[in-house]
Amino acid sequence: MGSKRAMLGNGLGEALGRSIAKADRVFDLFTGSAAVAWHVAEKHGKEVLAGDLQTYSAVLAASVIERTEPIVDRAWIESWMLRALERVTAHKQWQDIRQIQESLGKVSASEASSNARNVNFGEGYPISSAYGGYYFSPWQSVWIDALRKSLPDAEDLRNVGLAALIQAASRCAASPGHTAQPFKPNETAGPYLIDAWLKDLPAILLKRIDDIARRKANKKGCAYCMNASELAEMARPGDLVFLDPPYSGVHYSRFYHVLESIARGEVGDVTGSGRYPERRERPSSDFSMLSTSKRALNDLLEILARQQASVIITFPAGKASNGLSGDDVKATAGDHFRLEEAKVSSRFSTLGGDSKHRAARQQADELILTLSSRPN
Ligand SMILES: C[S@@+](CC[C@H](N)C(=O)[O-])C[C@H]1O[C@@H](n2cnc3c(N)ncnc32)[C@H](O)[C@@H]1O
Repeated sequence: MGSKRAMLGNGLGEALGRSIAKADRVFDLFTGSAAVAWHVAEKHGKEVLAGDLQTYSAVLAASVIERTEPIVDRAWIESWMLRALERVTAHKQWQDIRQIQESLGKVSASEASSNARNVNFGEGYPISSAYGGYYFSPWQSVWIDALRKSLPDAEDLRNVGLAALIQAASRCAASPGHTAQPFKPNETAGPYLIDAWLKDLPAILLKRIDDIARRKANKKGCAYCMNASELAEMARPGDLVFLDPPYSGVHYSRFYHVLESIARGEVGDVTGSGRYPERRERPSSDFSMLSTSKRALNDLLEILARQQASVIITFPAGKASNGLSGDDVKATAGDHFRLEEAKVSSRFSTLGGDSKHRAARQQADELILTLSSRPN
């Protein structure tokens, strides 16, 4: 996932740390992987309010920022896995699904893929019907459906379980870096497809649970699936707002629809080589359209200036594919705020690249602007 995690150790963490000391609450309006929301909630004693247009991001954020105790009990994990195992083994083609999994690496990618696509998943397995035989092997996708359907009821456990499932699915997905398109079962991409399909999803899930369950917020916060401009209206004087707006001219929902479907637990009809859900099911953003990105940024900063919040904003230093450049962001910020500090940090970009193959990563310079509200 295109996350700010690396930058937290490379300039961003310091910039946040300096401003947080004076802040009442901290907002993360484009939370994405929730790396920044988790960092602030765990390391600083401030209430964090995190939002994103995508449900899966809100789930990731909620799993840590809404909880002030680590989860040490493990009994719920075993009973969740047992409930899921019952569902998995109840699938009418379970024996075929197991055989396909056992054949991976022994038959060609094209044969494995054709066997996988012949499975009739039936009702009650929406992730499998949409993505089984593409982003996931039938064995992996049936596990995802079964785990999604048997999540625990208690809110804290449900959030941790679903967040861990989203992360595990992201690590298993047979696609380059994100889920815009699955690997094809041909000579070039076939080996990557099989590698991904061989991943032990339940084992990865257990590791993700261990990681998330031990984390906690110092102060209880809240996660929202909400447009940034709407959540910005909740900011007050004394709040610090972190902004990491989209820089891609393609909607993020196109890259992350598989994770979004898992978060929602349902998928409508899917089309195209990327197996995308219908357009109306995918959140679209004014920040990712050339014709509206400038106005969207201006309108958001105008709201935050009116609310007299302080802001830290990150953006690629050069020209981004949504039409905005680092200079545009700096100029728009200057229209509404006093510029306290401008720094440049380096990070690796994977969107449009390939996070699973290092060579395809691109190094990019990223601006970090610290802004304070102007006196009225
Ligand atoms: C650059 S990414 C943020 C990455 C995040 N900081 C991280 O560390 O993972 C931009 C995010 O903004 C979200 N987004 C796009 N338009 C939005 C809007 N109008 N309101 C809220 N979130 C939006 C996208 O879904 C995406 O997750």
